[in-house]
Amino acid sequence: MFPRLVCISDYEQQAKLVLQKSIYDYYKSGANDQETLADNIAAFSRWKLYPRMLRNVSEIDLSVSVLGQRVSMPICVAATAMQCMAHVDGELATVRACQSLGTGMMLSSWATSSIEEVAEAGPNALRWLQLYIYKDRDVTKQLVQRAERMGYKAIFVTVDTPYLGNRFDDVRNRFKLPPQLRMKNFESNDLAFSPKENFGDNSGLAAYVAKAIDPSISWEDVKWLRGLTSLPIVAKGILRGDDAREAVKYGVDGILVSNHGARQLDGVPATIDVLPEIVEAVEGKVEVFLDGGVRKGTDVLKALALGAAAVFVGRPVIWGLASEGEKGVQNVLEILKEEFRLAMALCGCQNVKAIDRTLVRTNPMAVSRI
Ligand SMILES: Cc1cc2nc3c(=O)[nH]c(=O)nc-3n(C[C@H](O)[C@H](O)[C@H](O)COP(=O)(O)O)c2cc1C
Repeated sequence: MFPRLVCISDYEQQAKLVLQKSIYDYYKSGANDQETLADNIAAFSRWKLYPRMLRNVSEIDLSVSVLGQRVSMPICVAATAMQCMAHVDGELATVRACQSLGTGMMLSSWATSSIEEVAEAGPNALRWLQLYIYKDRDVTKQLVQRAERMGYKAIFVTVDTPYLGNRFDDVRNRFKLPPQLRMKNFESNDLAFSPKENFGDNSGLAAYVAKAIDPSISWEDVKWLRGLTSLPIVAKGILRGDDAREAVKYGVDGILVSNHGARQLDGVPATIDVLPEIVEAVEGKVEVFLDGGVRKGTDVLKALALGAAAVFVGRPVIWGLASEGEKGVQNVLEILKEEFRLAMALCGCQNVKAIDRTLVRTNPMAVSRI
């Protein structure tokens, strides 16, 4: 046990101590050689901060609006599948922590607690549903309708997963759900990734995706989704300006710049490095968000300076959950919040609006004319 867990990497060390190896590997892994996994973190360090002085930072307002809803800070929880492997309370602990913090939670379609259970555990939490488009469109449609019924406020449709990325550890470990768990949003065993089904001798999850998720999805399906719901829709997994413009054309309300935590295509850039291109491409027509490698308050500030309306964190929440359940998730979110507050203060920002593009540069030697 660590003497005291004071930052996100302490929580990761602690989670590694308590989790079974194959489960830690599943949460931690990126695709293939994990080049992008490392770069998601390293890229933040390449952007340097250029703080302003003497701006009276005795009061700091961290709140922002995300898709029309107020949150206490621009740090929200990204969808991570199967959270009950990390802690028995799983997604219920996460939603309760989000409710306490006043921030939003994106629930994975592949959660080990259902849309309804999570809504009941966090009735006042801001909740969104992450959606995979299943071959069976009725299954997809029902997920959206259940989310609407239970008061979820947006749909994040994942666009980067026609097939699952190749994660070596999951293949080595023949990753499957532990027998007591299932993906609770689905009735039938084969869609619930039930350990009772045979998902082959490699990564069971990769086999599941090949069986259930539709690799033929296209922009037409975004149009179909647009016709299905009046909830805001966010395209999750965009990495190019032209795709971002396409998404706007097809009626999305937001773009989440994401490489799926480096778990899909290895060799893609770090998300912070592509954020400026995407912000420029959408010309302020929709909100742009970012996830991938956010581990510190200064990372949040850099992303906002480059045009993100808010950021999402995936693995840090899992590390908190594994370490201490609901309290661990709450601590992780509080650590990020306090680090972000301090970064704002030291950059001379009283509120989030004051975070602008001039606060970051990639090359410290570059001559700038601010
Ligand atoms: C263990 C794990 C499970 C994930 N499950 C999903 C998922 O079910 N759906 C999805 O769209 N993204 C999923 N993601 C991607 C996250 O939503 C997010 O894009 C990513 O974790 C952000 O990077 P970070 O972990 O470095 O913060 C998952 C990521 C991890 C690490």
